[in-house]
Amino acid sequence: MTSTVVVGGFFGDEGKGKIISYLAIKDDPKIIVRGGAGPNAGHTIVDGDKVYKVRMLPSGFLNKNAKVMIGPGVVINPEVLHNEIQDFGVSGRVFIDKHCGIIEESHLMRDSKGELKEKIGSTGSGTGPANSDRAMRVLKMAKDFDSLSSLIADVPAEINSALSKNQNVLVEGTQGTFLSLWHGTYPFVTSKDVTASGICADVGLGPTKVDEVIVVFKSYVTRVGTGPLAKELSLEDAEKKNWSEFGTVTGRQRRAADFDFDLARRAIMLNGATQISITKLDVVFPECAGKTSYDELSSNAKSFIKNIENELNTPVTIIGTGPSVNDIVDRRI
Ligand code: GTP
Ligand code: IMP
Ligand code: MG
Repeated sequence: MTSTVVVGGFFGDEGKGKIISYLAIKDDPKIIVRGGAGPNAGHTIVDGDKVYKVRMLPSGFLNKNAKVMIGPGVVINPEVLHNEIQDFGVSGRVFIDKHCGIIEESHLMRDSKGELKEKIGSTGSGTGPANSDRAMRVLKMAKDFDSLSSLIADVPAEINSALSKNQNVLVEGTQGTFLSLWHGTYPFVTSKDVTASGICADVGLGPTKVDEVIVVFKSYVTRVGTGPLAKELSLEDAEKKNWSEFGTVTGRQRRAADFDFDLARRAIMLNGATQISITKLDVVFPECAGKTSYDELSSNAKSFIKNIENELNTPVTIIGTGPSVNDIVDRRI
């Protein structure tokens, strides 16, 4: 059996969506299961000339042979989910747990004003208020909605049964380590623990069943919304470096800083990382764009990678060299 958990190492938007879609095709897992907060997440997946913006479905849906599932710890916006199932043509292989919490209109309203919006810079997706209602034991769950009945499965049982049959399972996290409600820059965080342990709890995978934990770092740090960002660059400096990005869900401009070794070291510790993935190497080293083998990388880029491995004492196995799902150097092979 191989279970692989993929989580973000900084503040989300590290490019997990693309790494997960690559692993979903390459490692051919039978199940790709998503943990994390809810539709506050936004992943961008580029496959040939198709660009998918995903908020609710697991990013691994490009593998047509895999079942894609959402664990009971995740809150769901049914409208967003139904639209993505239709738009991305994945009906028949999407399953949600009966205990997934459901976002309703009142949660969207509560998320779009007041402290959450103004102080924390929440995404307005209703995720925080829904998780708050869940803690109060008043949130409705997927099993309470007839419109979701055809999607319901026992997600923890399915993934553990696949592992016991020696099938691969890919577990995807959302957000990033320093947006964790426990370990992040509280109160400027999301409404859940989003480190590897939290993501495993979200889907019902026990600690002894985890084989690999891949922590994804971008080659620089970005943060959307409020909260501390050490050595933050001015917007002009970020633009000069081509590090200026805009959020997938909110369209807000992301703040940027250099790769932060202190944060990265702590992320490796908190997540129990066994491997590191580095994305957007081509943005820092444009000569690496589209490369697919380590030998083809420039010596500056290789030094950057080696330095990360030395400082963090963990192998860098998967490197992103462009937005497309195959713009990858995979050093596991
Ligand atoms: P997560 O929130 O971590 O899942 O990241 P994401 O998938 O949401 O990425 P997001 O859309 O927020 O921003 C990342 C952007 O970078 C997307 O447009 C991706 O297509 C793109 N991207 C991902 N990896 C690479 C890479 O290695 N090189 C380049 N140039 N672009 C990348
Ligand atoms: P909320 O999770 O919508 O309540 O937002 C809380 C904070 O987390 C805000 O600063 C958001 O910008 C940030 N956040 C939540 N989800 C993501 C994500 O997927 N990527 C990046 N930032 C996020
Ligand atoms: Mg994102």
